[in-house]
Amino acid sequence: MSASVNLAGVIGWPISQSLSPRLHGYWLNKHGIKGAYVALPVRPEDFGQVVAAMPLMGFAGASVTVPHKEAAFALAQSLDEDARATGAVNTLVFENGMVKGLNTDVRGFAASLMEQLGSRAASAGPVAVLGAGGAARAIVQALLRAGAPEIRLVNRTRKRTEQLVATFGSSARLQIRDWGDWTGSLGGAQLLVNTTSLGMTGKAPLEISLEALPRTAAVADIVYNPLETALLAAARAKGHRTMDGLGMLMHQAVPAFASWFGVTPEVTPELRAELVKALSGA
Ligand code: ATR
Repeated sequence: MSASVNLAGVIGWPISQSLSPRLHGYWLNKHGIKGAYVALPVRPEDFGQVVAAMPLMGFAGASVTVPHKEAAFALAQSLDEDARATGAVNTLVFENGMVKGLNTDVRGFAASLMEQLGSRAASAGPVAVLGAGGAARAIVQALLRAGAPEIRLVNRTRKRTEQLVATFGSSARLQIRDWGDWTGSLGGAQLLVNTTSLGMTGKAPLEISLEALPRTAAVADIVYNPLETALLAAARAKGHRTMDGLGMLMHQAVPAFASWFGVTPEVTPELRAELVKALSGA
């Protein structure tokens, strides 16, 4: 293994749409680090073999995205607290012959929330979370830590919501609401977070009524393509404060970059502009 090459990448299937090479490439360039961050399309059945080979090729680590986050969790030899809490790993670090698994989505969401909606965004009142997949687990972990008094979980498949609640040890702060019961889910809430992929370019639209959501509530979407989803546009039209998905993407990458390359990079307006440009095809 050579320590002089600075190599990392993102493993997913498919991977062609990933903004991560642009994001990490920006920081490598900015910090004058000679190296590369590449997109690696890897089929689910090949994931283990690829990860085993990467340290031998000089990779310092990798980002892990859909559909490999649970496989990465199962394969890692050590886990950070957020990976253990969520059962998902989005960052692998190869160190001293070991594969370490981190979940930086939790910190990424928390940092984005703080930056865009302020320190009381999670704790100001009940929070409604749409979805119960891997992204939802990371966001619930972040919201619990940030002091959310009540989290209403709203998912199409109730069984999955029940599994999520069981993962978190059935906290009294976690409540289950039915998909489509927008009055019960949003009434009195101070924050709404979409963690599903609905509303993303190429996916089905998110059909939701914001009528019951108090005017003082903020609305966050983890989708960043389009940057202003129909949910965020509707929320903005009603006067709600909003947060798009780019913040979480940028902030989850900070601890990953730091653990591979030893430099803590910054989330800046220039970086955001670079990613917005990439989203528009430039
Ligand atoms: P991720 O790990 O990125 O969260 P996922 O585990 O596939 O991805 O979760 C996707 C989420 O979007 C789930 O909550 C899913 O709901 P189900 O558990 O019922 O599948 C939700 N989702 C996807 N398509 C949906 C649709 N057409 N209507 C409602 N929810 C949908």
